[in-house]
Amino acid sequence: MFVCRLSENIFMNKIAIFASGSGSNAENIVNYFEGKDAASFPVIISNKKDAYVHERAKRLGIKSVTFSKSEFDSTDMVLDCLKENGIDFIVLAGFLLKVPENILKAYPNKIVNIHPALLPKFGGKGMYGDNVHKAVVEAGETESGITIHYVNENYDEGTIIFQAKCTVDKDDTYEDVAKKVHTLEYMHFPVIIENILSK
Ligand code: GAR
Repeated sequence: MFVCRLSENIFMNKIAIFASGSGSNAENIVNYFEGKDAASFPVIISNKKDAYVHERAKRLGIKSVTFSKSEFDSTDMVLDCLKENGIDFIVLAGFLLKVPENILKAYPNKIVNIHPALLPKFGGKGMYGDNVHKAVVEAGETESGITIHYVNENYDEGTIIFQAKCTVDKDDTYEDVAKKVHTLEYMHFPVIIENILSK
């Protein structure tokens, strides 16, 4: 019994997912780790009260909470929530705010983000979700993809961990590109998180 509890403490990473929108990546990640010892998900954190991710959290039996932009930027409320939940790793899955300094400092190299394009192209402020796919199609790109990277103080500029590509065909709409990119996200993001946690 004692050995079992000890190994749980050593290997179980407590992950907080930050999400602002639909949360399909959040749900996919939680489902991937279901029944595995590597991770648990005590809390999902959002900056939008009406984001669909809250519905998904309810279905998954995970607590979800909302903090306003000013609570993120100017208070320790989010940090306190992370500490109260024993969080040791953070995953941004469609999270639209910049991660504030106090959280970056408390979680060095413990925060990863997924971006729906091949950084350093199509990154930066305002580049999220469909805005990215529209920009890719408008620029006449022949490929897009995903970038998983560590998070630092600038939007989309942390060290790149992994990229995967898909084609952008001549007649593809931004919705077509979004579909291809989401497929790559669902396939790779949980596996890359698992790899990072195992190091
Ligand atoms: C995902 O495609 C993710 O890569 C993107 O938002 C979408 C969220 O979808 N993130 C960004 O654009 C960050 N700059 P989801 O809510 O269904 O997981």
